Amino acid sequence: MNTGYSGGIPDEVIEAVLQHNDIVDTVGKYVHLTKQGKYMKGLCPFHSEKTPSFTVTPERQIFYCYGCGAGGNAIKFRMEIDGLSFPEAVRLMAEESHVPFQDGKGAAATPQNKELERLLQAHEWAAKLFHYLLKNTEHGKSAMEYLRARGFGDKLIDQFQIGYAPDRWDTLVQFFEKRSFDLKEMEKGGLLSPRQNGSGYVDRFRGRVMFPIMNRSGRVIAFAGRILGEGQPKYLNSPESRLFNKSRTLYNLNLAKGPIRKQGQIVLMEGFGDVIAAWDAGVQHTVATMGTALTDNHASLIRTLTEEVVVCYDGDNAGQAAALKSIPILEGAGLHVKIAVLQNGLDPDEYIKTYGQERFVEQIIHGAVSTTKFRLIYIKKNYNLLEEDGKAAYAQEAINVIANLGSPTEREVYLKELSVEVGVSLDSLKQDCNLARQTLNRKQPQSGQQGGRGGGSGGNGRSSRKPTAPTLLPAYHVAERRLLSIMLQDGEAATYVAQHLGEAFNIPEHAALAAYIYSYYAQGKAPDVSRFIGSLHDDRLEKTATSISMMDAPLDETLRGMDDYIREIKKFPQQKLIEQKREDMLRAEKSGDFLRAAQIASEIITLERQ
Ligand code: UTP
Ligand code: MN
Repeated sequence: MNTGYSGGIPDEVIEAVLQHNDIVDTVGKYVHLTKQGKYMKGLCPFHSEKTPSFTVTPERQIFYCYGCGAGGNAIKFRMEIDGLSFPEAVRLMAEESHVPFQDGKGAAATPQNKELERLLQAHEWAAKLFHYLLKNTEHGKSAMEYLRARGFGDKLIDQFQIGYAPDRWDTLVQFFEKRSFDLKEMEKGGLLSPRQNGSGYVDRFRGRVMFPIMNRSGRVIAFAGRILGEGQPKYLNSPESRLFNKSRTLYNLNLAKGPIRKQGQIVLMEGFGDVIAAWDAGVQHTVATMGTALTDNHASLIRTLTEEVVVCYDGDNAGQAAALKSIPILEGAGLHVKIAVLQNGLDPDEYIKTYGQERFVEQIIHGAVSTTKFRLIYIKKNYNLLEEDGKAAYAQEAINVIANLGSPTEREVYLKELSVEVGVSLDSLKQDCNLARQTLNRKQPQSGQQGGRGGGSGGNGRSSRKPTAPTLLPAYHVAERRLLSIMLQDGEAATYVAQHLGEAFNIPEHAALAAYIYSYYAQGKAPDVSRFIGSLHDDRLEKTATSISMMDAPLDETLRGMDDYIREIKKFPQQKLIEQKREDMLRAEKSGDFLRAAQIASEIITLERQ
């Protein structure tokens, strides 16, 4: 189960990082905490709430939210709040607390990684230089005028570190030469181009407004340079490199990830300008793809941050077609999708300029519609509803969309609307819809309700964040949790369980945790929940371990108490077996095989005696 995405970071580093980063200090930088007995309490930064259900337990060095189930140690907290991967979080925290960082494969020191670090450094310098040139020099004047005319104030220019690359061949070349950067390396990283005829290098970006593109943790990994006014290409982007992978990058994710968590939603757009205009309008949980189609990678990246996405693409035909295409990709990653529909061919930026920020937020973002509704709007454009023929043809196509919906209530809602639109009775529409469903079922007998064209959008995908409070768990489940809780606090108890139960927990996650606990103590470590969680590197196990260690199982459990739990746990598979045998027995009786039924009955009795 250990997925190894610790990137080979040695345990000592992880432990040193945990030692230097107290959970209360770490969380306290983001959440206002008040003391309440053994706990600190505050408002959860990972979901919206009015009464605090977010706790920090200094004694165990963990955080846990009773509302949304978020939990873990200090590293986990930084991963979640800053949107970092495990190695990124460890590296950052190590840097901040001056823990010498080197990952296991000695990766920090390989020439390749050094090159990567130099490229990052070069991008950062370049961004600063472009920003400076835009704001403070004669070179930047025309670009500044252009930006002003587009409504970019100083605040936005600073926030997004917008800059200007002068219309010269050697701004960056000279800058890099002075600082002894390797120009060939800079060419590979996409900042310079080889000189057309002859040797040497020239700047890749010239005479363009520069939008730096940051990765999740805010480091500059690429640029998009926009021409001032008309011309081709409108945007010149950095080429793909080891630093920059378009299909995994979302513009503005570094700034948006906090707001995304707070809103429980992300807004997806097409353009840089759109994201910045939306930000200015207070819609800060917004990102854009980088001039490429949305990929599965984007979708799963989004899914790590939230469950709901509002697609707000350009209002022209291309934008709306792209929105339609995005639906199955996003739903495929388990996201709940809504579409914010812009009309008259406007993009979000233009809409805000034309109708104002308030109307954009109220009508477009808050007015986002379901994917079914969007499909209906989308196909409606092809028909003239003023003519009877047009109405009938639209009705038929609309019914095909609605027939894909699994929920009868949902179907009824849309059919009612359609009935008003096309002036046909609800009953006739229902009949047509049922016919369409029969045809559908014949085509895909095994999954009747899910639409082949991704039409079955009704409410699926929202399933993932289950309530985590253990509501009325079966006895063996509670016993397993209690036992694990004791094991986490006491090494000797863990040894006892290892001998008497081993990994025979009924719930696979519990069995895995037990195995990790055994190996944790086998390394001679003292009980420490936070350290233990730090050694897991598996999101689900971390959550389960955290939730278990919040159970407050009294440590003075006697051996007998543990034996009771162990017995309860061992009993369960037998009970299951007995249940199964009872069913077999009933089936045998029904089919008249009384001999076999009697045989099974005696088996059951033996099992029950045990
Ligand atoms: P748009 O043409 O809609 O640009 O392309 P925009 O964002 O509205 O730009 P402004 O408002 O005119 O400045 C949408 C996105 O496609 C990518 C960019 O990421 C852009 O934001 N694109 C577009 C390119 O990469 N290259 C291009 O030449 C054009
Ligand atoms: Mn635009």
